[in-house]
Amino acid sequence: MPEPTPTVELRGVTKRFADFTAVENVNLQIRRGEFITLLGPSGCGKTTLLRMISGFDTPTEGVILLDGQDVTALPPYRRNVNQVFQSYALFPHLTVEENIAFGLRMKGAPRGEIIERVRRGIELVSLQGKENSKPSALSGGQKQRVALARAIVCEPKVLLLDEPLSALDAKLRHQMQIEMKQMQRRLGITFVFVTHDQEEALTMSDRIAVVNRGRVEQLGTADEIYHQPRTRFVAEFIGQANLLRAQVIGREDSDVVVRLADDITLRVNDTNLPPDELTALVSLRPEKIHLCRDAAPGENVFAAEVMEEIFRGQTDQLQIRTASGLEFTVVVANESRSQDAFHKGERVFCRLHPEDLVLVRD
Ligand SMILES: Nc1ncnc2c1ncn2[C@@H]1O[C@H](COP(=O)(O)OP(=O)(O)O)[C@@H](O)[C@H]1O
Ligand SMILES: [Mg+2]
Repeated sequence: MPEPTPTVELRGVTKRFADFTAVENVNLQIRRGEFITLLGPSGCGKTTLLRMISGFDTPTEGVILLDGQDVTALPPYRRNVNQVFQSYALFPHLTVEENIAFGLRMKGAPRGEIIERVRRGIELVSLQGKENSKPSALSGGQKQRVALARAIVCEPKVLLLDEPLSALDAKLRHQMQIEMKQMQRRLGITFVFVTHDQEEALTMSDRIAVVNRGRVEQLGTADEIYHQPRTRFVAEFIGQANLLRAQVIGREDSDVVVRLADDITLRVNDTNLPPDELTALVSLRPEKIHLCRDAAPGENVFAAEVMEEIFRGQTDQLQIRTASGLEFTVVVANESRSQDAFHKGERVFCRLHPEDLVLVRD
């Protein structure tokens, strides 16, 4: 069966400001009703990508399609998309109700319909009782809800959200993350969400596009991005990673066997390494290193010493060093103050599963 037409599609999109390239040859297909997140560090081109989808900016090269229609040359008001800004951009002299009604008034919707849609919008974001308040009387979270309702009542095909939660404190932000995700599911509107916060992206998204220096480095589900990073940047930007340069010493079916230093041999379950590559960069998550006190060194098992022990609440972070001087970060669950805890100066054995090791591009 052919793939359904993407709701948003970017084809070879590049954006240059004078001689600076902010977005470079981005190809991206966004599906109907999905929650997709553009995740990347500050300055990587996220806002520029959103502004090209909404029509506030035009690509230097490439095309943008909405539902298969080329909209590259259309102004924002001719596209069925709506944007929620980080700064809320509410009108201070209008009430909550009037702010939410604003877009519908601009479109010339009939009065009765405006009243009904605004009522539903207020319900959707749980602002009953605040209809006649001015923005200055609202908390940060409530202002963000007004901004959301104002965008949603216009029933856009696509809602673009540019770091909408970054001004909120951590606790409220977590609550809003869950609320927004639930709302998105319920409404079935396609959300294109921008954040530099990896945890936020992992919590909310159906798929994540990791953006680095104007390019999409990897596109996938949270699970894929976390467990199967394809590049050094993705491995390091999402979660923590031990990255180690290794010698390729063998290949068997779907495994690659590599050597670190002289004394560690690792079997990696990965088929993505080019056939004639002699070295590889191995990525290993700190929580995937299993420590024990007794083991026989061999493939994927090696000895080390605990150099440092850092209490992190739910977890302990250990720095370990092997006999040949390789250092790893290990994270262990801090379940109880049991006899099993590993301490500074202890000799330990590390055990790794081939499926937990990934080879990444530098
Ligand atoms: N109008 C502009 N003129 C010149 N440079 C710009 C303009 N807009 C963005 N940039 C540059 O493009 C890069 C990407 O910006 P932006 O898309 O805002 O990044 P992000 O939203 O990921 O932080 C930045 O280096 C920024 O300085
Ligand atoms: Mg930005």
